[in-house]
Amino acid sequence: MTAPLTTRLARADAGSAADAARILGAGGLVAFPTETVYGLGADATDGRAVARLYEAKGRPAFNPLIAHVPDITAARAIAQFDADAARLADFFWPGPLTLVLPRAPGCAVAALATAGLDTIAVRVPDHPAARAILAAFGKPVVAPSANRSGHVSPTHAAHVAADLGGRIDLIIDGGATSVGIESTIVACLGEPMLLRPGGLPRAAIERRLGRKMSAPSASAGDKPLAPGMLGSHYAPRTPLRLNAGHVELGEALLAFGSTPPEGAAGAKTMLNLSERGNLVEAAANLFSHLRALDAVGAGAIAVMTIPSDGLGEAINDRLSRAAVTR
Ligand code: TXA
Ligand code: MG
Repeated sequence: MTAPLTTRLARADAGSAADAARILGAGGLVAFPTETVYGLGADATDGRAVARLYEAKGRPAFNPLIAHVPDITAARAIAQFDADAARLADFFWPGPLTLVLPRAPGCAVAALATAGLDTIAVRVPDHPAARAILAAFGKPVVAPSANRSGHVSPTHAAHVAADLGGRIDLIIDGGATSVGIESTIVACLGEPMLLRPGGLPRAAIERRLGRKMSAPSASAGDKPLAPGMLGSHYAPRTPLRLNAGHVELGEALLAFGSTPPEGAAGAKTMLNLSERGNLVEAAANLFSHLRALDAVGAGAIAVMTIPSDGLGEAINDRLSRAAVTR
């Protein structure tokens, strides 16, 4: 365990982007907003910085990281694109899509960052603060979600401070993230495969590919394909009760839509993901509402049924992971 750090908080602007680049270059850790969730950045080419990042998160070192780059040219220096990957990157980057690809020969990313796999996850984020930092730094930045391992992903700078204050050097505050749920991960290692539903709906990707994506098999040999997809990855402390048609006394309610379930009036607290039943709005609110309801000391959080089309696939994926009892 290293000594506690003083964590500075800075507003997202040109000055703080330059600061962030300087800190990254010195092997430090900087949290910054992306359009999906806040990421915790380290110099991807510096094994010691990556080791510090794993320690700050309390993350098992077998869980590999996403390398963030400013554009496709920078991505091609670290990863090999087949025709499908190029088609998706051209159309959806910058944006909430991560591609898992074979490492390029001469890829400078530290082996620890990819946990010994011969593949690498790459993404070009669509957020002015993230892009300013990547441009100023000029090297790939690995950035997992900026939460302690096992906690819910942060969508506000205050969430990052609550989890990682005293453990990292700088937090860049760019306000609430717009998408609110992590990037969709697609492996292009042969037939494209959806590894993690996320902020880019499956249907948009399949339309672009001109075919359906296959579902992931649990493992390739002895190495997990999506090692981060552990059952209890996104976990509040309070138990979740999914597809709740009623609310029991002492439960908190995570609502969706304008029709409250039976017993809603007796809920300890109620937050609505989207009163108008909009899945984009619901994704943006998901993690902050989960954090808030987790803090009220309810016996359980009753979660109303969320439709599974569009972003609903990713929302239901995160909810079912959060509901796994530990
Ligand atoms: O939206 C996002 O993707 C955010 C922002 C900060 O960019 N990042 C994020 O990172 O969610 P993280 O570390 O929380 O999740 C990355 C996921 C993990 O499940 C990890 O196992 C998987 O990507 N992953 C990384 N490299 C991989 C690889 N080579 N093969 C398969 N899965 C990989
Ligand atoms: Mg994460």
